[in-house]
Amino acid sequence: MLKIAVLVSGGGTNLQAVIDAIAAGTITNSRIEVVISNNKNAYALERAAQNGIPHRCISPKDFADRDEFNRQLLLALNSYSVDLVVLAGFLVVIPPEVIAAYKNRTINIHPSLIPSFCGTGYYGLNVHKGALLRGVKITGATVHFVDEGTDTGPILLQKAVEVKEDDTPESLQRRVMEEAEWKILPEAIHLIANGRVEVENGKTLIRSEKGMDTI
Ligand code: GRF
Repeated sequence: MLKIAVLVSGGGTNLQAVIDAIAAGTITNSRIEVVISNNKNAYALERAAQNGIPHRCISPKDFADRDEFNRQLLLALNSYSVDLVVLAGFLVVIPPEVIAAYKNRTINIHPSLIPSFCGTGYYGLNVHKGALLRGVKITGATVHFVDEGTDTGPILLQKAVEVKEDDTPESLQRRVMEEAEWKILPEAIHLIANGRVEVENGKTLIRSEKGMDTI
């Protein structure tokens, strides 16, 4: 049974997609042990409560300095003995000690096709504003493992989404969530929970029925 911590900051629609997929049996061998938010007003915490999932707020604002926050976040994850950390719209820089302790065991969902529209400053609506400004016809979402960089870790899954001529950043954000994020995040967790993912030389290998495919 894969024990998961989901880290959130906002609405938690990706968290909801994971909760629903576990309930529906499309994610197997998995349980959400805890939902952690840096924002005590995040609706994601309410979603956890409604589903009987342990949840707590750990905010940098509640500690004397960032080192102490980093330490407390790591202690919290360790206390739930989690196997996988899922960043689902978590807007705080992940502490280096967490990255090191959960190497190849931390995934993030990013709302573009990496390496486009990613890295420092590309979060939330900025990602979709960037895509519209550049005039791309296709965007999408990426699930990747988290390393020391910003959106630089091994790519696990990607899904393309069409950009429409009358899109606004908001309409594009919504379509990317519906058509890509809410599908590939649960799928990634299912693959990991069933031992079908390996990381080798900075790339992922996904075990299909035939064997391992380089993605
Ligand atoms: C999503 O667009 C995700 O890709 C990004 O932050 C947003 C979180 O949305 N990293 P939600 O809280 O899951 O609704």
